[in-house]
Amino acid sequence: MTLSPCYRPLPNLHLHQLPLYPTPLETEVVRGLSARQKTLPAKLFYDDTGSWLFEVITTLPEYYLPRAEREIFQHQGHEIWPHLHAGAVLVEPGSGSCGKIQPLLENTAPRAYVPIEISGDHLWSAANSLAARYPWLSIHAVCADFTQPLELPAAVPEAVRTVFFPGSTIGNFPPGEALKLLGNLRQLLGPGGQLLLGVDTHKSRATLEAAYNDSRGVTAAFNKNMLRHINRALGMDFNLEQFAHLAFYNEREKRIEMHLRSLRTQTVHLGEHRFTLARGETLHTENSYKYRPKEFAALASRAGFLWQHCWQDPQRAFSVHLLSA
Ligand code: AVI
Repeated sequence: MTLSPCYRPLPNLHLHQLPLYPTPLETEVVRGLSARQKTLPAKLFYDDTGSWLFEVITTLPEYYLPRAEREIFQHQGHEIWPHLHAGAVLVEPGSGSCGKIQPLLENTAPRAYVPIEISGDHLWSAANSLAARYPWLSIHAVCADFTQPLELPAAVPEAVRTVFFPGSTIGNFPPGEALKLLGNLRQLLGPGGQLLLGVDTHKSRATLEAAYNDSRGVTAAFNKNMLRHINRALGMDFNLEQFAHLAFYNEREKRIEMHLRSLRTQTVHLGEHRFTLARGETLHTENSYKYRPKEFAALASRAGFLWQHCWQDPQRAFSVHLLSA
């Protein structure tokens, strides 16, 4: 791995690169664009620009999720921390800017912290800042696709593991895939490990839809950036001007759906493949499932976890669950 000169790893920071995209990206995109409802894999949101746009989304007034989750940790942290193992290896899949881990670092004295992120530059720079801020903390930053089963590098210290999976990222997987991912995480944890995760809850359609249709258009830019990412990664020729952002609550499926709607009939190319989109036809880019606490507890126990606790903010806009492997 080559590091750009601006990242001079500190002594407490170790960088690891695992192989990415075991299913070739091209195969996944061809499969998605050949389906009746055309789809694109949501992980393609997160190139460097997409990761940055997502950080902006988390600061928007309409996007209540991080605020509600933060409120739970701020006001109920004193109840949560005593339930967590002290001295654990803390693993965070999809760690982004590593901005949510700080209360856990400060309250559970972990043996090591393992952020896992698909976007390498974003991971290295976030882990570097954290390593400078917490010189006592051993950080093993792993660039990997956490949606695939994975093993941590051998250099990560042996200790009981706690996986922290905040932000309702679990909601981005359909229940069958969420079950599989929870199973993978249980495997990664090993016996006695704990999973602390944030899950968004049902609420009014108006509140849900506003969160994914913000007035500044950041979510729209995030959605469209996926096409720019695919163009660059696979040499495709999506014209971003010819698509509009669409996000709505699908009440039957209990999920927000994000799509990109084609503004005219158009053809896009991937190597020898051609895909024609009719005017008004959509590319389905993301699902964001919402769960009542009881529904999520049932899913967790189907994945073989022992459900331990659930904490909610006073408005019950969000939930934090503690599961044990
Ligand atoms: C990362 N994930 C939990 C976000 C969500 O709310 O589903 C992604 C997102 N998509 C649009 N806005 C935010």
